[in-house]
Amino acid sequence: MKVLICGGAETAAGRAADLVAARLRRAPATTLGLATGGTMEAVYAALIARHRAGDCGFAAARSFNLDEYVGLAPDHPCSYWRYMREHLFGHVDFAPDRTHLPQGDAPDPQAEADRYEAAIRAAGDIGLQLLGIGANGHIGFNEPTSSLASLTRVKTLARATRAANARFFSGSEDVPRLAITMGIATILRAEEVVLLAVGEAKAEAVARMIEGPVSAFCPASALQTHRRVTVILDDAAAGQLALRDYYEDIHPGGM
Ligand code: GLP
Repeated sequence: MKVLICGGAETAAGRAADLVAARLRRAPATTLGLATGGTMEAVYAALIARHRAGDCGFAAARSFNLDEYVGLAPDHPCSYWRYMREHLFGHVDFAPDRTHLPQGDAPDPQAEADRYEAAIRAAGDIGLQLLGIGANGHIGFNEPTSSLASLTRVKTLARATRAANARFFSGSEDVPRLAITMGIATILRAEEVVLLAVGEAKAEAVARMIEGPVSAFCPASALQTHRRVTVILDDAAAGQLALRDYYEDIHPGGM
């Protein structure tokens, strides 16, 4: 794992956006794996700015998002479809038929999950996968004890995850109990992974992901088995790393 500690949260988000923009310049037809959540908002804002400055384009790219809530239609105000339109798709030159998310209101959610997994495979898998991390170590909606061999499927959300995401709904009770999420094995098939974490609330999960044992108890720790992972952190999210000096020695200032 390459661990980049970047100082402030905005610098860290900009660094993640730089890696995505560089990939798009190198391989314009890349398949991006995209994430949602508060952390990604700054990354997408930075990407939109780079796009407007002529630094990168999305016209030849395509994308698959990690997850979607079961029961929410694409136009539901709290759906990840809506999030992506608001924070990225509506502001860059992505062709609408080249952006994909699971259909949350599909009549048979597991059949939709299987279809989504097959669509990712048919696209040749993800080129660059962007990830955040939950305070409980989840990636996508792969909650603790998710099989490290899991594929896209329906998962029950942890109570802590529903509480953490309640800020996007009118309250915890409104957060759906189920989601369709790429599996851990789906994510591990990506050619490269860029994970961004900021803030003290993520520091423990970050330390378990990077320095803990590989364990389904911390799903993000499965990334230790991937050949090309870059973890980008601000100072606060790096706060519990035992080998912080070492990472800073190799990549001063996160460069
Ligand atoms: C959500 C998403 C994840 C995201 C994580 C952290 O539940 N499913 O993809 O990385 O939790 O979210 P945030 O950035 O809001 O802390």
